[in-house]
Amino acid sequence: MLFRRINFKKFTDGRGDLIPLEFGSDFDNADIPFDVKRCYFISGPTNDGIRGQHAHRNLEQVIIAANGSFTLVLDDGEAEKEEIKLDSNTVGIHIKNLVWRELKDFSHDCVILVLASEHYKESDYIRNKDEFYNCVKNNEY
Ligand code: TYD
Repeated sequence: MLFRRINFKKFTDGRGDLIPLEFGSDFDNADIPFDVKRCYFISGPTNDGIRGQHAHRNLEQVIIAANGSFTLVLDDGEAEKEEIKLDSNTVGIHIKNLVWRELKDFSHDCVILVLASEHYKESDYIRNKDEFYNCVKNNEY
């Protein structure tokens, strides 16, 4: 499966919205189905820029449009490709390893929140698309 869409709960009252995220691989009611070791957010992306353009060897992520909107392009290097417009902070896209991702078409107010299962390690990145296709073909990782 290329990705899984997760819908978060939202508690709204006169003061605004609250969206809680519970983490954990061994917690039945987890919203994020892995133990989060790192989180980062991207703010102020330029509208015509492209981010991502890589895959991971051994890492799961959930990607959320915390504010505004953007388009997430996913490719498993074989048959599946998907373009997903993310414009709700109650939706997370869960992707596993060996999925090429690109982020584009950012709204001016876009803030992206990413939750990751591993610490940052540059050697986990596949930043070359031909190398990515080779890893998929050889069924690595
Ligand atoms: P980069 O991978 O180019 O961002 P994107 O995937 O959005 O295109 O990362 C930009 C810089 O930030 C790069 O120098 C690596 C650094 N970085 C960290 O130090 N820690 C992190 O957790 C991440 C995601 C990136």
